[in-house]
Amino acid sequence: MSTKFVIEGLKSTIEGKEILKGINLEIKGGEIHAIMGPNGTGKSTLASTLMGHPKYEVTAGKVTLNDEDVLEMAVDERARAGLFLAMQYPSEIAGVTNSDFLRSAINARREEGNEISLIKFIRQMESKMKELEMNPEFAHRYLNEGFSGGEKKRNEILQMMLLEPKIVILDEIDSGLDIDALKIVANGVNAMRSEERGFLIITHYQRLLNYVKPDFVHVMMQGRIVKSGGPELAERLEAEGYDWVKEELGIVDETVGQEA
Ligand SMILES: Nc1ncnc2c1ncn2[C@@H]1O[C@H](COP(=O)(O)OP(=O)(O)O)[C@@H](O)[C@H]1O
Ligand SMILES: [Mg+2]
Repeated sequence: MSTKFVIEGLKSTIEGKEILKGINLEIKGGEIHAIMGPNGTGKSTLASTLMGHPKYEVTAGKVTLNDEDVLEMAVDERARAGLFLAMQYPSEIAGVTNSDFLRSAINARREEGNEISLIKFIRQMESKMKELEMNPEFAHRYLNEGFSGGEKKRNEILQMMLLEPKIVILDEIDSGLDIDALKIVANGVNAMRSEERGFLIITHYQRLLNYVKPDFVHVMMQGRIVKSGGPELAERLEAEGYDWVKEELGIVDETVGQEA
């Protein structure tokens, strides 16, 4: 079955403040959607709400993955259904090695009795780490502990490559990356492009989109998608910034959730 992820009228609140004000988006397998927008417009809130972060309360709307109700699922069920989020600020977990974490994450998505063998897992992990030009010692380090910003981002991509999700959400995966690391991350994403997999790439800047070509570009302001287009929209934003969008739509303050 080919992948179809549908978000309809999604609203969510944090600490009683409404941040998402009705998001509509449909992502099919094979498609790359980019969500761009200035800081504080609700982009990370969208990612966290979709993954079921407990701090965010959904107050309206519907989200389905291949017709299954995502909002009904617990976080681990969402992961098992094929949703993946690379977080803007990945957590550090002391005491759990990267490789233990990765193997548990893979096995959590498999049926009991069908766990990946240690040998096969190590072979896969080592080959993906090589593709991402990661030092092999990162397998044995505690998860993200003491990793630089760029190392954390590569590690998120490593997780994506091993988990083979159906819908990949990348939140500011390009932030903190130098140009070489950016290209490596982009290659990782491009290697995972498939008809079975859809991407939602959240980014403030368009530079990642020079290497990962989106099919659709959306601009988020005030907790809504206010404008959608093709790759040319990202190029215009890069060249001219966001002010023209605000002027065109009569938006003075593009942020959300700052109201007293
Ligand atoms: N953990 C949080 N606690 C309180 N408010 C939050 C939290 N996360 C987000 N918000 C509010 O949501 C708004 C949007 O934040 P966010 O979704 O992170 O925006 P973006 O990713 O576009 O920069 C913030 O300006 C803030 O008011
Ligand atoms: Mg953010």
